[in-house]
Amino acid sequence: MENLSLNIVTGRSEIIFGYYSERLNFLSKNRKIIVICDKNVNELYSDISKNYSVINITALESEKTIQIVEQIYIKLLELKADRSTLLVAIGGGIICDITGYVAATFYRGLSVILIPTTLLAMVDASIGGKNGVNFNGNKNIVGVIRQPEAIIIDTTFLKTLPPEEFKNGIAEIIKHSIISGGEFYNLILNNAELKSGIVSENILQSAINIKINIVASDVNEKGLRKVLNFGHTLGHIIELKQGISHGKAIAIGMMMSAIISAHFNKCSKKTVEEIYNLLTFYNLPVKSSLDIAEIVKYLNSDKKKDAELLHFVFIKNIGEIMHEGISINFLQNELLEIFK
Ligand SMILES: NC(=O)c1ccc[n+]([C@@H]2O[C@H](COP(=O)([O-])OP(=O)(O)OC[C@H]3O[C@@H](n4cnc5c(N)ncnc54)[C@H](O)[C@@H]3O)[C@@H](O)[C@H]2O)c1
Repeated sequence: MENLSLNIVTGRSEIIFGYYSERLNFLSKNRKIIVICDKNVNELYSDISKNYSVINITALESEKTIQIVEQIYIKLLELKADRSTLLVAIGGGIICDITGYVAATFYRGLSVILIPTTLLAMVDASIGGKNGVNFNGNKNIVGVIRQPEAIIIDTTFLKTLPPEEFKNGIAEIIKHSIISGGEFYNLILNNAELKSGIVSENILQSAINIKINIVASDVNEKGLRKVLNFGHTLGHIIELKQGISHGKAIAIGMMMSAIISAHFNKCSKKTVEEIYNLLTFYNLPVKSSLDIAEIVKYLNSDKKKDAELLHFVFIKNIGEIMHEGISINFLQNELLEIFK
């Protein structure tokens, strides 16, 4: 597969496809490597701890905390990390997010390479330099934007990925297809191969490219990049409070956002149906088991708010996503009405 690159003011990342160990050995240029690894992945791939110093992390949302970051700092000192040490994340979005944050802060910044092992992390979480941890019940509220030196995409990791986790990745691929519309949307529409768990090179590269192009045009999330949050404002609340996976929560968030968009006359009922059909084709959930009153309560702590305005991401059409500041109070009341 052809390599890609993201070159922006916060840094340059190479996105390299191939066998991770070979690629890592080439990129490390004899630097001392410390791997921060998903414990499950380390157990499945014994060559990781044979070849590298490893700090194991349990990939749980409840472990994506400042406390874990502190524990990693302590282990890095024990392993005698210095300013030239190369940190490497091997795992899904949780490990990539934590490692990116540790790398940005330890010794005021270590080089980092991400090796995503889930489909979601390959097409989304590892790309764009956003990283951080949850704090006090708020998702990803502490973090920085900083590009990793490289991202190595080794699709052999997907062979052991549980089907439910694969589905989480599909949810983000669907999000990218709704944002981009056009050819990529048509490719994802009713794609039986993808549904059965096979992700083609074309889909992988296109999904990554869509994210790269959006990130490159708005590094600090002041404008266009906000469209990547389609489904995320509500999805993040559902993920944390309902305790379901990121992808499933985002699928529900996208469905709710489409219904809200239609309610505010931003999109047609047909667009809502298209999104419903797309999500249900891939057996993704479209409704939360949480009471809407429970969901709206947490809108106040959303990161994307300025004063009392929340930057909500609406859909106008497939391929046409927009964001708009909306009064939190007003949105809360409307949501209680729409989803009563
Ligand atoms: N930084 C960003 O831009 C961004 C974007 C999207 C999501 N995220 C974050 O990503 C996280 C979700 O990440 P995720 O869905 O990639 O997964 P994850 O890190 O939560 O891992 C999911 C599960 O899959 C297992 N696993 C990982 N790779 C495996 C493999 N190859 N074989 C077998 N099992 C494997 C893990 O051990 C874990 O049990 C959330 O915390 C979310 O906030 C960040």
